[in-house]
Amino acid sequence: MSKMLYNDAIMERDNVVDIEDRAYQFGDGVYEVIGVYDGEPLMMDEHMERLERSARELRLTLPVSTTELKNNLEKLVEANGLQEGIIYMQVSRGIASREHEFPNPETPAVTVAYTREEVRQSDVEDEGRPAVLVEDIRWLRCDIKTLNLLPNVMAKQKAVENNAVEAILHRGDIVTEASASNVFMVKNGELYTHPADNYILNGITRRKIIQLCDELDLKVNEQTYTVNDLLNADEVFISATKLDIIPILRVDDQTIGDGKPGKITKQVLQSFRSLYQKSVRNKV
Ligand code: PDD
Repeated sequence: MSKMLYNDAIMERDNVVDIEDRAYQFGDGVYEVIGVYDGEPLMMDEHMERLERSARELRLTLPVSTTELKNNLEKLVEANGLQEGIIYMQVSRGIASREHEFPNPETPAVTVAYTREEVRQSDVEDEGRPAVLVEDIRWLRCDIKTLNLLPNVMAKQKAVENNAVEAILHRGDIVTEASASNVFMVKNGELYTHPADNYILNGITRRKIIQLCDELDLKVNEQTYTVNDLLNADEVFISATKLDIIPILRVDDQTIGDGKPGKITKQVLQSFRSLYQKSVRNKV
């Protein structure tokens, strides 16, 4: 059995869930998923910064500094000898008698983390996959990475039942993001993605892509676009931790572009891959 982090201690992964942990009963907590490549977490500082923000927005006090947390997570990766995969970590508002309101402020938050080996699916990244459209019925603070993921779960299930890789969400006419990833479309050589407001999670991968596009001299428009725009795009791709970038070849029954991974998508993917290939090279 692999090891987990429970607050400050690295221990055997065991059944440590308390039935009155607020994460368990209310989804009252925040989380992060961090990619690990060749034993190295990718963009850890950015994930820690986002965790801090999510916690602040929910008035949840992190039990330790993010520097300390980062150290603990690195120790966990080492303890598990993880080379390629993810770190999942969450912080809940703690364990207290079940009442909806916040517990006594003395109640310590509970941090748990574990790692999972996951081999990168480069064939999926190279080939692309279809997606489906699902109405976005989530709350209006999608910018906070909370444990409440039921609408995302329902949407992703619909994708799987339709042999699709993702469910692209739309609020009325406007494309927001996907059940567990951000969405980009390409039209006439320019990229478009929903602005980082309360309707989407500002993905760490999304931000990195925007930065890479700048270096590649590709224009990214952080502006809203419609379902119709999406269906008539030249290229569409999704982005998230570990999934990295997946070209979307079809949305429901509509083929995107010529039904193959697009030129700009491939360029962005190549540039993203060189990020972790570079970190591997630097280590050697
Ligand atoms: N999900 N949007 C949503 C709703 C997400 O759940 C995710 C990530 C993203 C992409 O964010 P990032 O690039 O920081 O991973 C966008 C993670 C991977 C998950 O819940 O498993």
